[in-house]
Amino acid sequence: MTITLIGAGNVGYHLGKRLYKKGLTIHQVFSREIKHAEFLAKKVKGVAVTDLTNIDAQADLYIIAVRDDSISEVVAKLRQNKGMNRKLVVHTSGAANSQLIAPYFKRYGVFYPLQTFSKSRKVKFATIPICVDAGRKKDLKMLLKIGGKISEKVTKITDEERAVLHVAAVMVNNFSNHLFHLGQQITVEAGVDFGLLKPLILETVLKISQHTPYDMQTGPARRNDEKTIKKHLEYLQKFPEFVQLYTLLTKSIQHAYRR
Ligand SMILES: NC(=O)c1ccc[n+]([C@@H]2O[C@H](COP(=O)([O-])OP(=O)(O)OC[C@H]3O[C@@H](n4cnc5c(N)ncnc54)[C@H](OP(=O)(O)O)[C@@H]3O)[C@@H](O)[C@H]2O)c1
Repeated sequence: MTITLIGAGNVGYHLGKRLYKKGLTIHQVFSREIKHAEFLAKKVKGVAVTDLTNIDAQADLYIIAVRDDSISEVVAKLRQNKGMNRKLVVHTSGAANSQLIAPYFKRYGVFYPLQTFSKSRKVKFATIPICVDAGRKKDLKMLLKIGGKISEKVTKITDEERAVLHVAAVMVNNFSNHLFHLGQQITVEAGVDFGLLKPLILETVLKISQHTPYDMQTGPARRNDEKTIKKHLEYLQKFPEFVQLYTLLTKSIQHAYRR
């Protein structure tokens, strides 16, 4: 099985390394910047490419890991290359529809690793859910097989299911991480050590491996402690942009526990 990677960013980097480690051959690695393409190509013993017209038809699978709003443009360009019409082309997006590829390639699909990736962070790939889908049964089988080589959890997920997962992923990952950032700003501004909050952050996440988030909710909003809420809102006058967010989240928690 030979794979060409289109995109050497956060996902291309981790996915490429894992596929290579598990014995799959990486043929070409595309990134617009030569240093990005070469950095990954060297690690996976592939050939670095910076021009999409130089992607050849020697691979069995083409994995597109570029930003969502560039997928269509990249797919359209790939289709113009000689011999590409019968190739299986997938993207790695949680939010983009698989139908973005369908107008150009009969053999299309999705290979979405449900995790947050940054080049600077190691990931435990074996535990990452790989959500796959394909227009054709044979291709789905192939994607499930490849997913199974790199992870213990590979599932067929439709476009509709993936869209739901992506909304939920933004809530649980992007939003909570942003709240950690705001918490850090509040402590730093007051000269208090943000590190003191880290065990709390970790326990918040660990708790939900054994309980529901609903059951684990604590805090002034959960207790309807209006006095403390008022005090917090007074303190947050220093950060006017946080007041609305604090109020909205407080109301959302209170609403969830209203009898
Ligand atoms: N990051 C995550 O946590 C995560 C998780 C799951 C799925 N995904 C999905 O995976 C895909 C890639 O995300 P990422 O985080 O790896 O992105 P990224 O780090 O920004 O990397 C994007 C790659 O695409 C290239 N690129 C960007 N715009 C392009 C264009 N117009 N034409 C051609 N190439 C272009 C970049 O090349 P240069 O840098 O050389 O310019 C880079 O190699 C997205 O669909 C994303 O939704 C991301």
